Amino acid sequence: MIDLGYRAREQFAPFHMRKERWACIVAHRRAGKTVACVMDLIDAALRCDKPNPRFAYVAPFYTQAKDIAWSYVKQYGAPIPGASINESELRLDLPNGGRVRLYGAENYDRLRGLYFDGIVLDEYADMDPRVWPQVVRPALSDRRGWATFIGTPKGRNDFWRIWNGDAETGWPGALNSDEWFHLMLKASETGIVQDEELRDSRRMLSADEYEQEYECSFEAAIKGAFYAEQMKRARVEGRIARIPIERGLGVWTAWDLGVSDSTAIWFGQTLGREERIIDYYEASGVGLDHYAKVLRDRDYVYTKHYFPHDVAVKSLSTGVTRVETLRGLGIEPTIVPRHAVMDGINATQRYIDRCWFDEERCKRGLESLTQYRRDYDEKQRVFKVSPLHDWTSHGADAFRMRAAMAATDMPMPKGRYQGRGASSSSSWMAG
Ligand SMILES: Nc1ncnc2c1ncn2[C@@H]1O[C@H](COP(=O)(O)OP(=O)(O)OP(=O)(O)O)[C@@H](O)[C@H]1O
Ligand SMILES: [Mg+2]
Repeated sequence: MIDLGYRAREQFAPFHMRKERWACIVAHRRAGKTVACVMDLIDAALRCDKPNPRFAYVAPFYTQAKDIAWSYVKQYGAPIPGASINESELRLDLPNGGRVRLYGAENYDRLRGLYFDGIVLDEYADMDPRVWPQVVRPALSDRRGWATFIGTPKGRNDFWRIWNGDAETGWPGALNSDEWFHLMLKASETGIVQDEELRDSRRMLSADEYEQEYECSFEAAIKGAFYAEQMKRARVEGRIARIPIERGLGVWTAWDLGVSDSTAIWFGQTLGREERIIDYYEASGVGLDHYAKVLRDRDYVYTKHYFPHDVAVKSLSTGVTRVETLRGLGIEPTIVPRHAVMDGINATQRYIDRCWFDEERCKRGLESLTQYRRDYDEKQRVFKVSPLHDWTSHGADAFRMRAAMAATDMPMPKGRYQGRGASSSSSWMAG
C-alpha cells in the first residue's frame, strides 16, 4: 500500500467505496469534489489490472482542468514510485501502465475514438449536454468503464436531469436507480466549510446564489442568463409545447456559421406577430453542403435564410465568400445588418415574448437559449458585459439573427426598439 498523504473526507468515503458503475454527486462549493475525484481516478488507475488502463478527468474548459485539477494530480500523483508527469499533455503515467489525463469539455471531439476505464465529469452543470451521450458514453463501452458526474447545481439543466430523472425519456434519475451511486452534500449538513466562512459567503451572494452554491438547490435562477426570464415566461404561458407545422406557410431559417465551432440553424414560421419556432439543427466538422442537405431533407418551403454579416467575407483559403458557396448550394442568404451584440440581445429578449417553440424538435436550441449567459470574471468576482462563449453561444447567436431582423422588419411604434441601458438611442442597429 502506498501512502499518498491523502485522507478522504468522511463525506466522500461512501463514494470511494461504491460498487456501482455510475455515480452522481451534487455537492456544495469547497466540499472537496475535485480532490475526491482526482484521488478516485488515481486509485482506480493503480488498481486496474487490464492492459494500458486509461482514466480521464474532464472539466468544462481545458484551462479550468489545468488550473484546478492539475495541481492535485501532481501533488498526489508525483510521489508514487515509478510515476511520471507529462506537463504538456496534463497526464500522469503510473508504473502499471495506467494513465490519468485531463481534458476540457469544450473540445470534446478530441475524446472521440478513445477508450476509458473510468472518467470524471467535474462541474457537469456547465458542460454541453452532448458530451456525455455522444462521446463519453461510447468511449466507456469497450472496457465497461465507469463514470462519475459531479458538480454544483445550475438550474434545471442536464445535470438536474441526470440527478432527478427525465419524464420525456423515461430515465428515472440517479436518485432512483439501483445502478447509480448518488450523494448530495449540503454545506449546512457536512460541516466542511466553517460557519464563519459560510456567513461570509452568505453576505457576498444573493439568497438564491447561496442556496445554489452551498445548499445544492436546483431551483435558483441561473445568474447572468440573458433570456432566463423570457424563457421562463414562455414556459409558464404554455408557449413551449408541440407546435404543428403549418404546411401552407413558408419557413425561414436563421444561422450561426461556425468555422472551427458548431453551426446552428433555427427554423421558424411567421404568422402575423406570432413566431412559431418549429425546428433546430446543430452540427460541427462538416461543410456547407451538409447543411444544404439538412434543409432539403426537411421538406419545408423556404422563404428567407438569415445569416450574420461575416458570410460576405472572402475566405483566405478559397478566395470566395460563403455567400457565393451558399448560392451554389441553392441557399440565397439574407444578410443581417451588423449590430452590437448587446443590442441584438435586447431585441431578442423582446422577440422571445412573441415566440412559440416546439419543445421536441427545438430541444437543444431551447437549452442553449435558457443557459446562454454572461461571462464571469473569477478574479474580480463580477459579471462581464459580454456573453460567455461556450456550447450555448451557437444556438443563441443564430436565434439573435432572426430576432435582429424581425426588429427591423416589424413596423413598430417609434422608439420601440431603443434598447435598455447600454444601447444607442438612435437606432439599435447602428454600428
Ligand atoms: N481530503 C482532503 N484532505 C485535505 N484537504 C482537502 C481534501 N479534500 C479537499 N481538500 C481541500 O479543500 C479545498 C477544496 O477542495 P476542492 O477543490 O476539491 O473542492 P471543490 O468541492 O472541488 O470546490 P469548488 O466547488 O470550488 O470546485 C482545497 O483547498 C483542497 O486542498
Ligand atoms: Mg472543484
